[in-house]
Amino acid sequence: MDGNGRWAKRRGLPRTMGHRKGVEAVRETVQAAGEAGVRYLTLFAFSSENWNRPEEEITDLMGLLKLFIRRDLAELHKENIRIRVIGGRARLDREILGLLVEAEELTRNNSAMHLVIAFNYGGRDEIVRAAKRLAEAVGRGELSPANVNEHTLSAFLDTAGIPDPDVIIRTSGEQRLSNFLLWQAAYTEFVFVPVLWPDFDKSAFHRALDEYASRERRFGAVPERDVALGS
Ligand code: FPP
Repeated sequence: MDGNGRWAKRRGLPRTMGHRKGVEAVRETVQAAGEAGVRYLTLFAFSSENWNRPEEEITDLMGLLKLFIRRDLAELHKENIRIRVIGGRARLDREILGLLVEAEELTRNNSAMHLVIAFNYGGRDEIVRAAKRLAEAVGRGELSPANVNEHTLSAFLDTAGIPDPDVIIRTSGEQRLSNFLLWQAAYTEFVFVPVLWPDFDKSAFHRALDEYASRERRFGAVPERDVALGS
């Protein structure tokens, strides 16, 4: 969800105003994804590197997540949306932790769409935490090193049970992964859109999905037609 700061700067507003407008784009995108039949929507709301931002901006982003859960949780639950949060929890304050757990608990049996919020998330950090937990399981004798494979490691990631993303949409014209879902994005399609996140709306979402739909995914294999032709 990139471009909040630039959106605000262009209007002579503080960066935090961009994040506030960004929450409206979150609401619109959640709705658009649900209507489009998306089963899993993951939003990168705060990265493990975002702690390097000015304290005022960090406080504002924490406040926006709290406000979002307080204001929108009942509606998301009514819409049968299941909320999951990925990312490290150690640095988060008690209030935010409580709200995240409440959102996950309340919606745990919902099934219309999974809304995954990546908060204090970094792909490398996730892999390191998973490796630690895996090593602990080996230490306790619950897992043999011979049985460590992609499947067993995946089960220790924050995203355990969540399918790998088909597509990652990055807004604002930046063309990088920025430590997002590093392990899970092995075969993901990337769609980069020039729109700044606060301006991202249903039509921008559908344009991105159309671009994804035009891609041919091969997962390291050759196209079916080439197999048929024997080429
Ligand atoms: C990146 O734009 C955006 C963020 C670091 C924060 C995104 C957070 C929200 C949209 C609101 C909270 C989320 C939820 C789920 C309620 P940037 O600030 O890096 O923009 P710039 O690249 O233009 O400076």
